[in-house]
Amino acid sequence: MSELVRAKISALGTYVPPRLLTNADLEKLVETSNEWIVDRTGIRERHMVEKGMATSDLAAEAAKAALTQRGLVPDDLDALIVATVTPDMLFPSTACLVQHKLGAKGVWGFDLSAACSAFVYALQAGAQFIATGAHKKVLVIGADVMSSIIDYTDRATCVIFGDGAGAVILEPADDGELGIIDFIHEVDGSGGCSLYMPGGGSLHPSTHETVDKKMHFVHQDGQAVFKFAIRKQMELCEAILERNGLKAQDVDVFIPHQANRRIITATADRLGLRPESVIVNIDRYGNTTAGTIPLAMGTALDEGRLKKGDLVLLASVGAGFTAGVTLLRWAY
Ligand code: UT7
Repeated sequence: MSELVRAKISALGTYVPPRLLTNADLEKLVETSNEWIVDRTGIRERHMVEKGMATSDLAAEAAKAALTQRGLVPDDLDALIVATVTPDMLFPSTACLVQHKLGAKGVWGFDLSAACSAFVYALQAGAQFIATGAHKKVLVIGADVMSSIIDYTDRATCVIFGDGAGAVILEPADDGELGIIDFIHEVDGSGGCSLYMPGGGSLHPSTHETVDKKMHFVHQDGQAVFKFAIRKQMELCEAILERNGLKAQDVDVFIPHQANRRIITATADRLGLRPESVIVNIDRYGNTTAGTIPLAMGTALDEGRLKKGDLVLLASVGAGFTAGVTLLRWAY
């Protein structure tokens, strides 16, 4: 095989639906309070689609923004990957629907299911096509409409999740540019029972009974996920830094999955990251599953906290369990 080419992120686009669901709105739906939600999660509001808007719509908007930023047209793309746990439908894949909405000719693509870790997994999957030289431009989208699988009578889950999408374009890095440096991914299927949606698949096809038993909603053992998330994120961050000869202090920008502010700060504190390097936007978006990391990249750029050459550490843990960390140098 010829020498591998390093992939870089050359553009970012994000999209959230305009409608807001605030903590005050949730106080009217379930027995909760703004204080509890802010103290226990850090979330103040999240965005929510209107009826009829699906994951492919959010994904296509984010993709258009990324293409515009890079000055590309959809036909310039070679492939697209949609990271999501809320596809528009079981099939066709959301990638096919996004391709059609973009009108991108000559492109192939697929969906990648890894819950909250899906964006970092898709980023790495896309980077491999660049690395081998098979492709020059790969669109990687993280998009979820979590409101479509949330039980708005269950206070333990409905306060956490939101809808949103982000897209990046991967291209070969020029000489001297670093782009994506390294990754570590892991799955631990023993955690599958801690966060899942039981209904609608081949095990429990949709019936009146699955609907009555609320099997088409997210079920979560919050404490189990919380503990695993901190431990595993720490472990993988330490491992990737160590094998690249880096220390926590060397990280310019830490962009973690936004599941709970307490998970983020516990991980960052225990790792010894500089507080100013940690990107948090969960207060505005909640947990958008595959959308959180690209949305947080957007926040970092908007706030002027992410610049060309910065050493960036991405980290995620999610249902599965799935976990992943990525080390990269921001390339634009
Ligand atoms: O993206 C991937 C995955 N998801 C996560 O990473 C989520 C990880 N877990 C968490 O973020 C937290 O576990 C939660 C935010 C889900 C829950 O926070 P917690 O501090 O772990 O609360 P808990 O589940 O231990 O519940 C404590 C109490 C319970 O009441 P009792 O039994 O002590 O009387 C709950 O019923 O808080 C109650 N509670 C609420 N109270 C007010 C649970 N949800 C709410 C609520 N408002 N929304």
